[in-house]
Amino acid sequence: MHYLITGHTGFKGAWLSLLLSARGHTVSGLALDPTPGALFETAGVDSILANDERIDIRDAAQTARAVQTMSPDVVIHLAAQALVRDSYRDPRTTFDTNVMGTLNVLEAVGATPSVKAHVVITTDKVYRNVNRAAGYVESDALGGADPYSASKAMADILTQSWITSFGGTPTAIARAGNVIGGGDVSRDRLLPDLLSAFTSGTPAPIRYPDSVRPWQHVLDCLDGYLTLADALLDGGGLGEWNFGPGEESFVTVANVADRAAALWGAGASWVRDEGDHPHEAGLLALDSTKAERELGWRNRLPFPLSLEWSVDWQRQSDDASAVTRSQIATFDAL
Ligand SMILES: NC(=O)c1ccc[n+]([C@@H]2O[C@H](COP(=O)([O-])OP(=O)(O)OC[C@H]3O[C@@H](n4cnc5c(N)ncnc54)[C@H](O)[C@@H]3O)[C@@H](O)[C@H]2O)c1
Repeated sequence: MHYLITGHTGFKGAWLSLLLSARGHTVSGLALDPTPGALFETAGVDSILANDERIDIRDAAQTARAVQTMSPDVVIHLAAQALVRDSYRDPRTTFDTNVMGTLNVLEAVGATPSVKAHVVITTDKVYRNVNRAAGYVESDALGGADPYSASKAMADILTQSWITSFGGTPTAIARAGNVIGGGDVSRDRLLPDLLSAFTSGTPAPIRYPDSVRPWQHVLDCLDGYLTLADALLDGGGLGEWNFGPGEESFVTVANVADRAAALWGAGASWVRDEGDHPHEAGLLALDSTKAERELGWRNRLPFPLSLEWSVDWQRQSDDASAVTRSQIATFDAL
């Protein structure tokens, strides 16, 4: 099966490319250049790609041309401006990329008859956050206080409207939350910030240590996306789907920082960052009962193991290619 991943040079995209390749699929990608030192580079993802197109999804004509030329069987649309804090710095690029970019991908897929399944990736942040403890279900209202969340909610509604209005390629929406795993070089994400501070022997400054967040290993989340693609290929899977972690993983940021520091060992520490920070959503939990019941998907890595794998990855990051491929093989054997 030939999979096209938009955003293959990013964190999830690099893991997904290698996961699909390990499962015997042909993989192509469409994205901007990777951030220097990103997993895409360190794990040698380019070596497994059938096509590696560096195209801006804000350009409708180029996006359509590239998708039609590659003629994949399945498209997983990950490409996005994916950081909340960058969305405050540059809301226009965030909305252009996440909303109009998604429209361009929907149009490109619609004009490519080879595509039999299309999975559009949004996020848990699409839900209107009413600070409740119970997990959000797929039929809950959407919202978005910050520009990133609003742009992803718009992409989600746009995709729903596209499916209702034009039908065409079997398309589904996947919503997942914070993921962790080796090789995330993004700024302003907890685990990358912690691990890079531990590596350099300095205390990690932590924002919102008392916030409770759900944590999931990137491989469990990606396995959810692929389970959904399989369901679409089998004639089901339409609609919106949550792929969240188990309830045991709803822990505070401080708890994650403490556990990660203990796993890292000598010299690892963190401090409360008292700076002035823009609004970030409080507790957001997903109820993934629908995906478990109807797709048979489940998380394979409980939270403590997800954290352990992430810290182990960092320790072995001198050979990112080997540790990433080895963790994928172990995951698929679970
Ligand atoms: N990482 C998380 O914790 C998380 C949580 C929920 C949802 N998501 C969603 O998952 C997806 C991937 O996230 P990630 O963590 O891998 O992000 P990332 O920032 O690591 O990667 C983003 C990818 O999108 C590409 N991209 C950005 N702007 C583009 C443009 N204009 N044209 C073409 N490509 C462009 C980048 O080149 C990169 O390949 C995003 O849709 C994000 O909203 C991520």
